[in-house]
Amino acid sequence: MVKKFPENFWWGAATSGPQSEGRFNKQHANVFDYWFEQSPEEFYDQIGPDVASNFYNSFESDLSMMEELSFNSLRTSIQWSRLIDDFETGSVNQDAVRFYNEVIDTMIQKGIRPVMNLHHFDIPVELYHKYGGWESKKVVELFVLFAKRCFELFGDRVKDWFTHNEPIVVVEGGYLHQFHYPKLVDGKKAMQVAYNLNLASAKVIQLFKEMTTSGDSRIGIILNLTPTYPATNSAEDQQAAHIAELFTNRLFLDPAIKGEFPEELVELLKENQVLWESTKEELAIIKQYTIDYLGVNYYHPHRVKAPDISPNSVGEWVPDRYYDEYELPGRRMNLDRGWEIYPKAIYDIALSIKEHYGNIAWFVSENGMGISNEERYQDETGVVNDRYRIDFMTEHLTYLHQAIEEGANCFGYHLWTPIDCWSWSNAYKNRYGLISNNIHTQIKTIKRSGYWFKQVAKDNCLPQ
Ligand code: NOJ
Repeated sequence: MVKKFPENFWWGAATSGPQSEGRFNKQHANVFDYWFEQSPEEFYDQIGPDVASNFYNSFESDLSMMEELSFNSLRTSIQWSRLIDDFETGSVNQDAVRFYNEVIDTMIQKGIRPVMNLHHFDIPVELYHKYGGWESKKVVELFVLFAKRCFELFGDRVKDWFTHNEPIVVVEGGYLHQFHYPKLVDGKKAMQVAYNLNLASAKVIQLFKEMTTSGDSRIGIILNLTPTYPATNSAEDQQAAHIAELFTNRLFLDPAIKGEFPEELVELLKENQVLWESTKEELAIIKQYTIDYLGVNYYHPHRVKAPDISPNSVGEWVPDRYYDEYELPGRRMNLDRGWEIYPKAIYDIALSIKEHYGNIAWFVSENGMGISNEERYQDETGVVNDRYRIDFMTEHLTYLHQAIEEGANCFGYHLWTPIDCWSWSNAYKNRYGLISNNIHTQIKTIKRSGYWFKQVAKDNCLPQ
């Protein structure tokens, strides 16, 4: 059967400002810039974000390569720490305005729809030092001011906006599992941060609705959804999976689409004395200002079982004390990244959005495969022969196509990422791009998967 995708389907890829631009001419440090300055040894091969994939200097030729690959859309982000000079007044940096204007105009000239995200783990460190970052509601207000500047400056040409990328990672990495700055373990702060991120998203949507009068602009949020599968059908495992689902997915998904937090989750947080501080007025904003559409990042599923230790017997509460990770025997793994490969989950996500979230419009905003030492797959011409990535995309897109046939409201597919880029503390350990990047020479070369993707995007169809 021919696997055609709907008309005007978005084909492209996703990156972010902090992972691609490099720090060139940036006046302020974000939390990752700062963390690298403080402890370079905590970053793979001690490589920081200083050059990243050099997008600041090479955006024109990078975008030409993406045009060559038939991209009709690209997601990146505007760095708060680049655009704003004074966070309190929202005065803007002129070089940053010039840079983002040129990037946006070049994309449009090349037929690449600019999709812009506002927060991709990159809060300015000054706001952490001064106010405690996302722990503070003052920072929520300052984020709204930053968003306002973005809409004023670029809203005439950018019609697709997103508030946050993977906000749960800020909570988990920064406040529970110590893989993002500020690397704390603090259930109470974690939940306040989760609430504040939700509030910030709703407030930015409110502002967007007040500022945009034309009907062709939309705003949403990008969530990494990790569908949870219980190890067995036992009531205990099912309950563990249910709680994992509440915390990892529904903590952001429900307020974004339904305007409210799941009641059960709120009860659980209360019982554990980690419920956030909220006001009636704020909850009314969250209720009213929900998203127009959703971005879903999908990499791997979440397999859980009931915990071995009862949650009440341990010290400070963290959400995942209610479940344990479970390794499905015989599961397929990407051993380089340590992630299970389970393409059917994309179908399960699609049907769950259809069934439980009003079939809201959504797209795959990230999907991808991180591979280390990819040079080992280079052929004699220097092209990375990444058959595994083509297979990975084929399998995921096949399930996505099936879901669309069954009525899923999905309008696009973006791979992570167009050009191998810097990946936080993993730096360049794993490569994800359709285009390789020699980090010493900055020479960029289309991989075999890039040529494959080009054909798919052009035909709007999977190869037969
Ligand atoms: C999700 C994040 O949005 C992105 O920043 C990251 O580099 C990729 N996944 C790969 O881990």
